[in-house]
Amino acid sequence: MHAPYEVPRLTVSAAPLADADLDLIIIPIAQDHAAGAASRYDGPLGEELRSALERGEFSAKACEIYVARTPAWRAARIVFVGGGPRAEISVERVRRMVICAAQVARHQRRARAGWADVEPGVIEAAARIETIAEGFVLANFDNGVHKSRDGNQFFVREAVVLTSDTSDAVTHGGAMGESINAARVLINEPGNYLTPRVMADKAAALASVPGISADILDERTIESLKMGLLLGVARGSSEPPRILVLKYSPAGAPASQTLGLVGKGITFDTGGLSLKPADGMERMKDDMAGGASVVAAMRSIAMQHLPIRAIAVVPMTENMPGGKATKPGDILTGASGLTVEVNNTDAEGRLILGDGLWYARQLGATHLIDVATLTGAIVVGLGKITTGLFGTPQPWVDHVSRAADRAGEKLWPMPLFDEYKDQLKSEIADMLNSPGRPAGSITAAMFLKEFAGTGPWAHLDIAGTAWADESKPWQPKGATGAMIRTLIEVARGGFAG
Ligand code: BES
Ligand code: MN
Ligand code: ZN
Repeated sequence: MHAPYEVPRLTVSAAPLADADLDLIIIPIAQDHAAGAASRYDGPLGEELRSALERGEFSAKACEIYVARTPAWRAARIVFVGGGPRAEISVERVRRMVICAAQVARHQRRARAGWADVEPGVIEAAARIETIAEGFVLANFDNGVHKSRDGNQFFVREAVVLTSDTSDAVTHGGAMGESINAARVLINEPGNYLTPRVMADKAAALASVPGISADILDERTIESLKMGLLLGVARGSSEPPRILVLKYSPAGAPASQTLGLVGKGITFDTGGLSLKPADGMERMKDDMAGGASVVAAMRSIAMQHLPIRAIAVVPMTENMPGGKATKPGDILTGASGLTVEVNNTDAEGRLILGDGLWYARQLGATHLIDVATLTGAIVVGLGKITTGLFGTPQPWVDHVSRAADRAGEKLWPMPLFDEYKDQLKSEIADMLNSPGRPAGSITAAMFLKEFAGTGPWAHLDIAGTAWADESKPWQPKGATGAMIRTLIEVARGGFAG
């Protein structure tokens, strides 16, 4: 077993670059300011950067790397990392640049790395420094935890932001990176290790920080709450379901408004009796990514002492085709009283979220956001790049959208016109759970809307964005931690809208 990640010691230092007592210094270079940067580092680097630019060996494209020796500096190496045009250097770009450059430190086994905060890009200092710290933590991630040999694992142990700015941005960024890494570890876990009971315990442990109280509801409590939708999905499995409830209510936070985060926690989705094809089914171990994400967000919200009330509800179960499994055509009654004709047992996420959303409202949530790997259709529509955003009313949806902008994450609004509701009609129950191929992500969201009440509600479909199918320099294959930062930014923004 290897360690899945390590949080480096994160500090800021205003020391001149030449004097910084580090093994490696990373210097970001904007493409359109590269010549100026070269003259700035001319002396100490013996014109190495300038000639690399002239030879075309390095052109400062986004995440491009050029490693130089530094005879005149204390650090042994400089890693120049390209940023592309300055006007493009956003939060997302900075995060990727840090991760790409920090990989060089890990490959060269240099334990003490610094980031020279010399390229402002288009973001302000606090957001930039927070992102740099976060990036250093995200870079120290290894998805080979179940390999029996450690494969020469190496992590950066000390990360210094070389800047004159002294805010607590480094602390916040570091804590955010740690929450995201912890969620990625859970999401990557296979279904045989991460059953609903195990997930409940591990997620509660992840959220056990001062200010959060955690409760795990077992199958008997779930039965007494009459959550027939969650129980209907759980019936096919020999593993019992669980619901994790997290509450955060700091002294002085207004009592009239409570953020309610609801996350899909299917620890493995076989499709149930409407069995999925074998090809690619192994990926369905990530069908609890939404649940892990809301737990990680709660952890960060509490660690940053954000002055709002928040609760999280994560319904957890396997979706299996056991002897007692719900059969296509069965009718289930949710805790809210609505009846559902289950014409496809593979549309299970909306069932457990129906009960989860209802329960979050029972617990006092006024402003809801659910996060779920809900539909294959969103992958068809938006690919693996963009999260689907749904919800109502518009100001709340816009609030979430602006939070994603600040967080440097991509999401895009999808419509919820009333006309789509026709597809949910059942002859024999209040609605169908699987309304057919057209607009599959929208009808899934329309289904959830029936359980979200009349207050502000947003739904994030992360089926395309929760998992990277191939590794990139800034993202190893596997769990991405998508939307955790956005949820934290929503909480920072309060309830505007
Ligand atoms: N967990 C899946 C959605 C999914 C698909 C996530 C691909 C990631 C990648 C969900 O439970 C599901 O099976 N949805 C069905 C719904 C259909 C039966 C209405 C789907 O999208 O095919
Ligand atoms: Mn499914
Ligand atoms: Zn699913």
